[in-house]
Amino acid sequence: MAEREMWATRIGFILAAIGSAVGLGNIWRFPFQASANGGAAFLTVYLAAVLVIGIPAILAEFVIGRRAKTSAIGAFSKLGRPRWWFVGAIGVVAAGWTLSYYSVIGGWVIRYIVGATTGAALADPGTYFGTVSVGIESVVVHALFMLLTVGIVAFGIEDGIELATKFMVPSIVVLLLGLAVYAFTLEGAGAGYDFLFTADFGAIVDNAGTVIPAAVGQALFSLSLGYSVMITYASYLGKDDSLLSDGLTVAVANTGVGILAGLVVLPLLAIQSGGEISAEGGPGAVFVAIPTALAELPGGSVVGQAVGFVFFAVVLVAALSSAISLLETVVAYLVDNYGFARLPTAVGLGAGIFLLGVPSAWDTAWLTWFDNISVALFLPLAVLFVVLFVGWVLGADAVAELREGSNSPGIATVWLWALRTVVLVAVIGVVALNLYDLFLVPDEGTYFVPPL
Ligand code: PFF
Repeated sequence: MAEREMWATRIGFILAAIGSAVGLGNIWRFPFQASANGGAAFLTVYLAAVLVIGIPAILAEFVIGRRAKTSAIGAFSKLGRPRWWFVGAIGVVAAGWTLSYYSVIGGWVIRYIVGATTGAALADPGTYFGTVSVGIESVVVHALFMLLTVGIVAFGIEDGIELATKFMVPSIVVLLLGLAVYAFTLEGAGAGYDFLFTADFGAIVDNAGTVIPAAVGQALFSLSLGYSVMITYASYLGKDDSLLSDGLTVAVANTGVGILAGLVVLPLLAIQSGGEISAEGGPGAVFVAIPTALAELPGGSVVGQAVGFVFFAVVLVAALSSAISLLETVVAYLVDNYGFARLPTAVGLGAGIFLLGVPSAWDTAWLTWFDNISVALFLPLAVLFVVLFVGWVLGADAVAELREGSNSPGIATVWLWALRTVVLVAVIGVVALNLYDLFLVPDEGTYFVPPL
């Protein structure tokens, strides 16, 4: 059998993991989730969730991946616990599921790069979104985005994903920084910062049942946890470097870029709405509000079009570097377990997942439903099982693995006990809140019945 692929460099792995984490979750999902769930209160719970659950859990996924050196489903047998294969399977299914609608949004972004540049998207943003986000127009750009994703994954780990993300991640950071500085100079930006940084803790307490699961879900989604992606990426690690510092780097970078994206998006949302950031909007929020703000920028339409081009180009790059991680997770499973060749596997899966996404492309009600099921059901369940598995089943082996290549071995034991106790209890709480919301509260929040 051919030798298994590997990252060429450690920084290549870190950038690919950051590329996976930083995506539509930070730029498209965060603003409308935050505005629906109390702004800064949401950010507070989000940050707490990154610390308490996110960092321990990303290390858990890294440990599984690097120790097993195979993709997510086979990893559990490799670790001598074949009965736990279903944990990887939930993640792999969830990765394909999520890519199906992620690609639809990625398609809209492609459309908006063109629409912003020509000015068409800025003329009447509501109508524009209404036209391009549904029906055949949306299906076509969904196909295009999927094609780009397949194109990168087909080249493999080193020549595809590593090479692409090495350019993508730095460009996202530089361009977002530029846009954030520009947004800072705009009149009316202040209301956006207030929204992001002035927490109303009363709001968290009053709405704990919805704010907490939404913010925790957002934090874990944003770190790409629960979809077997970080297991898969870590399985391509060759030599033992400190997983601890890799995990911290990814978490800090993702949160930093998330806040940076907030510093671009929220001032624009505030300007466009005259200071009141509303809870309305859902998946269309960014696509309608940003062009509306762009059209109002000082300097006239040329400035709006230029800024719009840069903004949507950043979003596209961020979306692609996440989409490739979702596709890779499913591809890696078929390549590792059945010995399939990478190219036809990537193409075949891309086609299948494209078809699964057609309902979401056709009608945004489906997209919202797919997203809810992904983040409220698949994700918390998978994270729960990962935490249980690494904490209570792998146990000492997990500690040994985290210690490999690390120069702070004591932390590994603290981490294990955190997983076994605090993290586990927190995740059980989140799963319970989500299941309650999903199955017992019809008409409000998330709901498991599809929009037929
Ligand atoms: N973390 C990505 C984002 O925030 O857009 C989305 C994502 C990618 C989630 C990969 C899960 C995943 F496995």
